[in-house]
Amino acid sequence: MTAASESAPWDRYWAYGNLHSFSQVTCGNYGGGIAAFWRERFAALADGACIVDVATGNGAVALLALDTAVATGRGFTVHGTDLAAIDPVTRVSDDAVRERLARIHFHARTPAEALPFTDATVDLVCSQFGLEYSDTARSIPELARVLRPDGRAALILHHGDSAFVRSARDEARGIDYVLDEARVYLKTRNFLRALAETRPPRGGSGGTLPPKAAKKRRAVDEAIQSIQSAARGHSNPRVLLGPLNYVQEVLAMTGRVGPNEALDWLEEARQRVVSMRQRLADMQVAACTEGDIARIKGQLDAAGFAPVRTAVFEDENGSVTGWRVEADRTA
Ligand SMILES: C[S@@+](CC[C@H](N)C(=O)[O-])C[C@H]1O[C@@H](n2cnc3c(N)ncnc32)[C@H](O)[C@@H]1O
Repeated sequence: MTAASESAPWDRYWAYGNLHSFSQVTCGNYGGGIAAFWRERFAALADGACIVDVATGNGAVALLALDTAVATGRGFTVHGTDLAAIDPVTRVSDDAVRERLARIHFHARTPAEALPFTDATVDLVCSQFGLEYSDTARSIPELARVLRPDGRAALILHHGDSAFVRSARDEARGIDYVLDEARVYLKTRNFLRALAETRPPRGGSGGTLPPKAAKKRRAVDEAIQSIQSAARGHSNPRVLLGPLNYVQEVLAMTGRVGPNEALDWLEEARQRVVSMRQRLADMQVAACTEGDIARIKGQLDAAGFAPVRTAVFEDENGSVTGWRVEADRTA
């Protein structure tokens, strides 16, 4: 684990309107053991409590806090902060969810290392798959600063063996294959450029491709076949067929739009896939080893938290979901 990333891949991801970080693994909000964990932490808070969800993304955990307030008849003030340019209230696609998100105070472009809250004003700082992306030597003292003397920090952090991180690893390998081995984006770009350079022969029927474009198109078809063949032998074909799908959509539109417009769409799709690969790579860098958790525990101890409890977090089926770290701010 190191301090990961710049925010561009996340800016893009949240702008697509996903509620949480694993749209490929689970839809809706987090459920099962994760949701139960958070609901229990929120339900233990008194009426009027102030909750800050650090690295909130589009507010999935903050939303669980708000829903717990409603379910228990308590009034919580809920904040969600993130380094990325988040705007959940306009971006999340589900109308009913957006209405609930509007009751949360979101703070975009807000690093965990510099929180915009007055000293000793927060009852619970939570963060799920978030704090490990920050420079914990600076963000942990920041949690201590904003928490009230009897406040608490509750964290779920990535574990290298969790289903989330394993799935990210698979997806990243799939993208590597599509981009760097089959090179289908590059070959499609070459094909579209050849098409754009071609002036239709005078009186030509327009039905057949000119020889140069036809050759480039054969290279595209071969790349597509190699990806499809790799997908047939893959336990999760979607990791290969997903990034290929955008190319096929662009190829399908070349009859309707000119090659230059198709090139623009292809570039947009390529950037989307490259950004996804960066996000998945950052997730693997952020995943914590036992040593990382020991270091975080040491940083919490040094910042004035006691006791600090750490454990592997397993879901309701006994599968590793992450690490769980809870710590009380001493008076
Ligand atoms: C895996 S997502 C987690 C989002 C959400 N908590 C969830 O559980 O779905 C990681 C988030 O951490 C944010 N992030 C990365 N570095 C950060 C930092 N230094 N300070 C605050 N947020 C950061 C990213 O922008 C991204 O939204």
